[in-house]
Amino acid sequence: MVARNFFIGGNWKMNGSVAQVKSLVEGLNTINVPTQTEVVVSPPALYIDRVRANLKKDIGVAAQNSYVKASGAYTGEISPEQLKDLGINWVILGHSERREYFAESDKFVGQKTAHALKAGVSVIACIGEKLEEREANITSQVVTRQLKGIADEINDWTNVVVAYEPVWAIGTGKVATPEQAEEVHVTLRAWLASNVSQKVADSVRIIYGGSVNAKNAAELGKHCNAWASHSLTHSLISLLFLIATKPNIDGFLVGGASLKATDFNTIVQARL
Ligand code: G3P
Repeated sequence: MVARNFFIGGNWKMNGSVAQVKSLVEGLNTINVPTQTEVVVSPPALYIDRVRANLKKDIGVAAQNSYVKASGAYTGEISPEQLKDLGINWVILGHSERREYFAESDKFVGQKTAHALKAGVSVIACIGEKLEEREANITSQVVTRQLKGIADEINDWTNVVVAYEPVWAIGTGKVATPEQAEEVHVTLRAWLASNVSQKVADSVRIIYGGSVNAKNAAELGKHCNAWASHSLTHSLISLLFLIATKPNIDGFLVGGASLKATDFNTIVQARL
C-alpha cells in the first residue's frame, strides 16, 4: 500500500470579516499540525494577503478560484501568477458552487487547473455528483467525466489534490458514509490507473468534502490512508486496520466547520 500524506483543506467560502478573520487566524496559530499531514486554509480573496501575513507558516493558504490568464482585461478575476507573487501556493478549482452558479464546465476547470499548475500554484480540484445523479445511479460516470476534464488538460499530477465533494452532502449536514466515500475514491483511483498511470493513481491524494465536522471526522478519519506516527505497535495495528478498511480517503475539504478553529483542529487531528 502506498502511504500518502494526510491533507486537510478549510474552505471558508464567502464568509468572514476583518475581525472574524483575525480571530480565526489566532485560533489556527495554536494548531499543532501532526507529522505527515498538510493543512491549507482558503479565505475569501479579500483576506488572502492578511491571512498569509499572520498565519503560521506550516499552514498553507489557498485562493478559492483563479483564472486561465496571467493578466489582462478580465474584470474581477485573479490570476495564479498574482497568487504566487503574494506567496499563495494553492488554489481550489472546480468547486461545485462555481460549476453551479458560474457555469464552469469540465473543460474550463481543466484549463484553469493547467494554467495554475503552469504558474507554480498547486490545485485542489473539486468534483462531485448532484443528488439526482446519485439517485439515477450515474455517480461514477459523472465523477470520471469531471476527472477526465482535468486529465485532458494536464500531464503532471504532482501538485494536484482531488477533492470528491458530493453536492448533496455540501452544507446539508448529510455526510456521505465512509463506504460511500471510499467507493467513489476507489473508482477515481481506478480511472487514474487506467487513463493516466498507476504511479499517478497511487500517489494522488483524494480527499472527501461534504458536511465533515468535529463529530464525524473521527469516524471518517479512522478509515483514512495514514501511517500512524506513534509507536511501532500502534503503526502496525493502524496499518493492518487500514489495509482491512478504507485506505483511499486521504483527508478532507471542510466548509462550515473550518470557520471554527477548535472544530477545525479536531478534524486536523482526526486520523491519529
Ligand atoms: O469545499 C468544501 C465544502 O464544499 C464543504 O462544505 O460546509 O459541507 O463542509 P461543508
